[in-house]
Amino acid sequence: MSNIAVLGTQWGDEGKGKLTDLLTPAFDIVARFQGGHNAGHTVYVKGQKIILHLIPSGILHPNKLCLIGNGLVINPQAFLDEKATLEKIGVQIGDNLAISTNAHMILPYHTQVESLREENSRRKIGTTSRGIGPAYVDKVGRQGIKAGDLLNLSVLRDKIELNVEEKNIYLGYHGRALLDAQKVFDEYVEYASLLRDHIKDVSFLLHQEIKAGKSVLFEGAQGALLDIDHGTYPYVTSSNSTVGGICSGLGIGADKIDEVWGVVKAYTTRVGKGPFPTEALDEWGEYLRKQGQEFGATTGRPRRCGWFDTVLMEYSCRLNGVKKILLTKSDVLDGLKEIKVCIGYEYKGARLPSFPLESWILDEAKPVYKTVKGWHQKVSGSREFSELPQEFRDYLHLIEDLLEAEVALISTGVDRSETILREDVLRGLIDLDKVKAEL
Ligand code: IMP
Repeated sequence: MSNIAVLGTQWGDEGKGKLTDLLTPAFDIVARFQGGHNAGHTVYVKGQKIILHLIPSGILHPNKLCLIGNGLVINPQAFLDEKATLEKIGVQIGDNLAISTNAHMILPYHTQVESLREENSRRKIGTTSRGIGPAYVDKVGRQGIKAGDLLNLSVLRDKIELNVEEKNIYLGYHGRALLDAQKVFDEYVEYASLLRDHIKDVSFLLHQEIKAGKSVLFEGAQGALLDIDHGTYPYVTSSNSTVGGICSGLGIGADKIDEVWGVVKAYTTRVGKGPFPTEALDEWGEYLRKQGQEFGATTGRPRRCGWFDTVLMEYSCRLNGVKKILLTKSDVLDGLKEIKVCIGYEYKGARLPSFPLESWILDEAKPVYKTVKGWHQKVSGSREFSELPQEFRDYLHLIEDLLEAEVALISTGVDRSETILREDVLRGLIDLDKVKAEL
């Protein structure tokens, strides 16, 4: 069976958690490749709400190997808290969860540096305040501390001393309390003993498993427009959330990714600052936020809401090579008489050929809308494609035509069971019977 990547195509929060969870039965391995505990993957199992931040969503299923690749940055306390919460609800965690030796660690100074930057900067990013950006800065600056360094205490001590010395200059300049390297070291020695058994060569492990015929679901975090290279820079996260991040963030070749499936919300949301051409600053934005329960899973912040944007979607599907669309939250549009879909951008009176990369153009781009008919009958809770109202099917065809990709799955509510699988589109790619058995 195939190895499939499930990636966010907008600004995150597309509903990847639910989809990863429900597709997991068809795979042997679920692997995260970027980000950290800034992600918030919400999964409902039999009415119980579970939010995963760092641990792959596949962990909720027995006998699945869950991998945290080298492309992530890990806050050890957040990892241990999440592990403890999962164990409390009966999830077994042991050899089924591995952290790459090459994944970088988040240290206390990363969160402190981030809050100072956000407070003092004239241009705030609106981050999740988890120390993600500064941890990646240290990685690229070649002074990061890797998970593997926890296994050698003299290397760990040396690296902590070096970093604390440097960070104290910055903290001192801003009149903040200085860090004590010994205290930080003692704390991380404790983490070393708790994490040791999970730290492995994830790239090697993954290769061995794939060679043995195992299939992999690559679980994306955030979304294409938050990608450090391709997103709406500087209002982005600090990792590659598009498909290239899978190879670099897990240490595998591109030949191991058979298809990319894009998770697409039926409207658009974003948390934090930055451009958002189809943002609805009127009562419709408020309507979508309320109906869609659009509040951040990690920070609880209200999400900014707006209409579906096919210009942005064409860009993210192109970047990722999306072959299938997994559509979420279309039930939120139930009851609307008319739905707006952005089909182009205008800049200084002229139509743009594609999503503009220049921030000053994007800031002023005006969306061009097509208004389509809403559907009278509810999509919410539907389980069969044949049950869907004609107007909704027209909406699907419009999306498929504009994005040149097939809609393979429609999520019609928060629970696993509220899902329509298009078997004709998915057959031969994954074992659908295994997915259907757990719906
Ligand atoms: P950071 O990842 O905490 O550095 O935040 C950078 C930007 O990415 C901010 O606008 C965050 O709100 C956004 N962001 C990070 N993770 C997520 C996510 O999982 N969903 C949605 N937005 C996110």
